[in-house]
Amino acid sequence: MRLSDRVKHQGRTAPAEPATGDGAGEEASAPSEAQPPSGEQAPRTRKPTPSGAPRQDPMAVLKQRLQEQLFARLGSRLYDASMSEDQLLEFVNAELTGVVDEEQTPLSPQERRQLVADVSNDVLGYGPIQALLDDDDVTEIMVNSTDRIYVERAGRLHPTEARFLSEDHLRRIIERIVSEVGRRVDESSPMVDARLPDGSRVNAVIPPLAVDGPSLTIRKFARDPFTSDDLVTMGSMSRPVADLLRACVEGRLNVVVSGGTGTGKTTMLNVLSSYISDGERIVSVEDAVELQLQQPHVVRLESRPPNVEGRGEVTIRDLVRNALRMRPDRILVGEVRSGEALDMLQAMNTGHEGSLTTVHANSPRDALSRIETMVLMAGMDLPVRAIREQIASAIHVIVQIGRMRDGSRRITQITEVSGMEGGTITLQDIFAFDHAAGIDEDGRLLGTQEPTGIRPKFAEHLAVHGHALPADLFGSADALLELR
Ligand SMILES: Nc1ncnc2c1ncn2[C@@H]1O[C@H](COP(=O)(O)OP(=O)(O)O)[C@@H](O)[C@H]1O
Ligand SMILES: [Mg+2]
Repeated sequence: MRLSDRVKHQGRTAPAEPATGDGAGEEASAPSEAQPPSGEQAPRTRKPTPSGAPRQDPMAVLKQRLQEQLFARLGSRLYDASMSEDQLLEFVNAELTGVVDEEQTPLSPQERRQLVADVSNDVLGYGPIQALLDDDDVTEIMVNSTDRIYVERAGRLHPTEARFLSEDHLRRIIERIVSEVGRRVDESSPMVDARLPDGSRVNAVIPPLAVDGPSLTIRKFARDPFTSDDLVTMGSMSRPVADLLRACVEGRLNVVVSGGTGTGKTTMLNVLSSYISDGERIVSVEDAVELQLQQPHVVRLESRPPNVEGRGEVTIRDLVRNALRMRPDRILVGEVRSGEALDMLQAMNTGHEGSLTTVHANSPRDALSRIETMVLMAGMDLPVRAIREQIASAIHVIVQIGRMRDGSRRITQITEVSGMEGGTITLQDIFAFDHAAGIDEDGRLLGTQEPTGIRPKFAEHLAVHGHALPADLFGSADALLELR
């Protein structure tokens, strides 16, 4: 008899649905992307199990039932802080064996072992969110409270049936996550950032700051990041733009990616980094490791917040300075936010050409003024003009990305930092998104990045270094002739 039949055969009451419900009803009740989940729009009515064939994995059903029984047996001991993780594991395994013994479903020894391992992982791992973490379609997990857990799939929010047994249970999972990276969450530090072993980013806030109980947000690490070709296929950049960017990176220009939150800056930086040749030594500096560098010769550095006693902080700036002493061919900084901008500019100006970073800004001009402000944050009391000169000579190209009204993320401008005029940095767009092209029948923007006809000054530099670009890349020959 197959396991599914055996489980059905038992004729127990229908168990709760597994955490990753895949019913079509979930789509229908999902709030739209634009509306963050809130109390009002999250009806937690249980879906009726469709009559006929349930589409659930019988093993999952059995697992869920065992888990519930185990939780009932373990009770508060599961969150007993005085018990070590090892003691807990031993205890859970003993109890679990008891529960499985009582189970009337006949199991092969191998099924049984698997079941014990799975349930114990669930109970001792990340609990009800483990299944969501394991689901590759889920990109973000948002735990608002014990029984209100949302996920993001393909950019849209969906409520789930996953739930924690109690606030203590949720709290225990949060503590487990943060203690694994040597951090603590308690009343004196009720907000914490951490990272799961797979690179996913975790933020937890507990009461009293989180009014409705502990809250947890996990941005899952993209196992399979977008490639240069993906961005071309999705229309985020045209093929000529990709060719230009590749030449810029290979030709060791300093490039800044600029965009708002979630526009795809890190993704673009990752794509740009893929153009770096294997022979170069790369040192990357990030707040939380996100870049997935493909090259063999890489050293990755990650900043560290202060510990509970307020000590031990290592800033991005500290790491950038340290990176300079590591004989890097390239320095990659995930995002400049503060005084490290000064060190980055100095590095770019003193032999570390080909460095790449991102900045949170809404236009290339805005990117410059933000960098200027960040340099001031370094506290060196430099005159504004000197800062601008540093910026103008350090940065060659700004890649501006934006989230368009059709929801797509695209390069809106490729802008050259061409020099200084009076006290102002001069910028010229080399490519700009054609907003006038309109939309297709599905509401998608038809435009792409079009050359402005301006041949950038850096084209000479690239040609000298063996990265000559086709003359027609920058627009019509007429446009070029006019400029000469
Ligand atoms: N060009 C793109 N098209 C579609 N989705 C994208 C694109 N670039 C990034 N994304 C997605 O957008 C989200 C945010 O991307 P990320 O690079 O982290 O943005 P940022 O660094 O600007 O905050 C991720 O889920 C990522 O997979
Ligand atoms: Mg980012």
